[in-house]
Amino acid sequence: MSAPFLIGEAMTGGYGSGADILHDCTIAVEDGEIAVIVGPNGAGKSTAMKAVFGMLNLRSGSVRLGGEDITALKPQERVAKGMAFVPQTNNIFTSMTVEENLEMGAFLRRDDIAKTIEQIYELFPILRDKRRQAAGELSGGQRQQVAVGRALMTRPRVLMLDEPTAGVSPIVMDELFDRIIEVARTGISILMVEQNARQALAIAHKGYVLVQGANAFTGTGAELLADDNVRRSFLGG
Ligand SMILES: Nc1ncnc2c1ncn2[C@@H]1O[C@H](COP(=O)(O)OP(=O)(O)O)[C@@H](O)[C@H]1O
Ligand SMILES: [Mg+2]
Repeated sequence: MSAPFLIGEAMTGGYGSGADILHDCTIAVEDGEIAVIVGPNGAGKSTAMKAVFGMLNLRSGSVRLGGEDITALKPQERVAKGMAFVPQTNNIFTSMTVEENLEMGAFLRRDDIAKTIEQIYELFPILRDKRRQAAGELSGGQRQQVAVGRALMTRPRVLMLDEPTAGVSPIVMDELFDRIIEVARTGISILMVEQNARQALAIAHKGYVLVQGANAFTGTGAELLADDNVRRSFLGG
């Protein structure tokens, strides 16, 4: 077995000098695959994502990307290494236009970004139609497309998404998942948190159930969907 492309391994830590939220927590994603983190509210899913992205001081454990230990790197340094993160909240600039949001996403780049913007408009055609509109005027699903598009502007190797389908209708959710699969097919690894556990595990190569900051169940998406304990406890039977 080769090492996973991105792994937060045995992560323990919390916020500031507060109590630990993560306890020996491990999450990983393979090259070009989709890994999904599910679990109850307050389980530490967002905290685990922040830890992998370098927004949390770990008391122990490590984060590795492509075999390189990046535990000590700042979030912006991780972006330079090919990581992109769409946080759960405040993930767009509402007073800026759609296109300005995409341009902001490319702030680290010094090369021509027009081609990447074009690729994002091909992935999310509605964003082309609304490119001159303030992002805050868009629907929930469209805002999430802006957030994902903005993250893709750095041309990442791994895209981390915290609840990309929060607050959208089932139809919009299905569409977003289809687009996420499309992104993965281009070779970008996806690590995402989802509250729509059943639907997310159905598209996941690997799934993690977190409970109280620790790994409760880990398997392929199909294994977790078929596991009686996981179904009863986390998927509503
Ligand atoms: N910025 C923060 N400062 C202190 N505690 C936090 C912060 N964010 C989250 N927590 C705490 O960490 C725990 C896990 O929260 P979170 O990672 O957001 O869970 P989830 O994403 O699984 O719903 C909760 O007890 C929450 O209150
Ligand atoms: Mg969360």
